[in-house]
Amino acid sequence: MSTIVAPTKFDALVSATRAAVSSDADWAGTAELVAAELERRLPTPDMLTDEQRTGDPKRYRSHLLHTEPDGSFSIVALTWRPGQETPIHDHVTWCVFGVIQGIEYEELYTLDERGEHLVEAGSSATETGEVSGFAPPGDIHRVRNIGDTTAISIHIYGTDVSRIGSSVRRSYDLPILAP
Ligand SMILES: [Fe+2]
Repeated sequence: MSTIVAPTKFDALVSATRAAVSSDADWAGTAELVAAELERRLPTPDMLTDEQRTGDPKRYRSHLLHTEPDGSFSIVALTWRPGQETPIHDHVTWCVFGVIQGIEYEELYTLDERGEHLVEAGSSATETGEVSGFAPPGDIHRVRNIGDTTAISIHIYGTDVSRIGSSVRRSYDLPILAP
């Protein structure tokens, strides 16, 4: 006798993302479709273990929640203690993210013509319940928890992050110019 297990809300997010990714839109179009699905099915922090929700005093932590078998997307939870941040970086593919606890602050940059400096290109805050996304090129950014509580966000990347290690294309350790 087999037992039928009811699909969870997370299973529904995986299925909806699969459908959006297989629409064969370009990166920007795919990111828009996936963002609409994540907005509808944004997980809650209780889908993570206590340990995953707690974060790490040393650095922000990444928890791989799902890798699509054909490598077309991955779903990751990031946990940030107050003040924790990424290096300035960009990505090999589109990314959609939703904040499920706290607040995430993103600074955007462009590379100057000679590739020797970064130029500030704006910033935005994403609060609990909000979803955002982007598609390269033009996605050089730094993310930081500017709140005074631990922040948690769900990120969906258009690649198999377990195979390539991360979706980061490169980090930028360059002087920053005001625009
Ligand atoms: Fe990023």
